[in-house]
Amino acid sequence: MKIVFMTVVGNTRRFVEKLEMDSLELSDANAFSEIQENFIMIAPTYAIEMTDVLNDFLETGNNLSYCKGVVGAGNRNFNDLYCFTAEDISLDYDIPLLHRLEFQGSDNDVKKVKEIVTEIENTNYV
Ligand SMILES: Cc1cc2nc3c(=O)[nH]c(=O)nc-3n(C[C@H](O)[C@H](O)[C@H](O)COP(=O)(O)O)c2cc1C
Repeated sequence: MKIVFMTVVGNTRRFVEKLEMDSLELSDANAFSEIQENFIMIAPTYAIEMTDVLNDFLETGNNLSYCKGVVGAGNRNFNDLYCFTAEDISLDYDIPLLHRLEFQGSDNDVKKVKEIVTEIENTNYV
């Protein structure tokens, strides 16, 4: 399972580093690249103009069919808007919202996301 993510300030990258899994960081330069393996997406929360590389990637080739879910990274101080980017992606593309975390995530978030990945891998026989 690959982790596909973007970051603006670096929190999400730090979380992904803690997972110690194969990962792909999206930017304008590679947003339209095609993937041929299962992945989960980790989405920091910003206005859509700042996160549209995530949408571009999901809409490229068959990428969406490999996406097993999305994890949101945000800040609870935004209340109702907490992790809305991941929520929108989940609704728009009909993929599960797996977990939400703040900033670079806690040890518990690392454990939780690793457990979720293992569960998905077992269910999908990958
Ligand atoms: C301009 C700005 C707007 C943000 N808006 C939201 C928001 O609406 N909801 C939320 O949960 N977090 C929001 N955040 C928090 C970020 O999503 C959070 O800090 C995240 O960890 C940033 O990830 P990054 O460092 O990988 O870019 C915002 C942060 C900034 C700087």
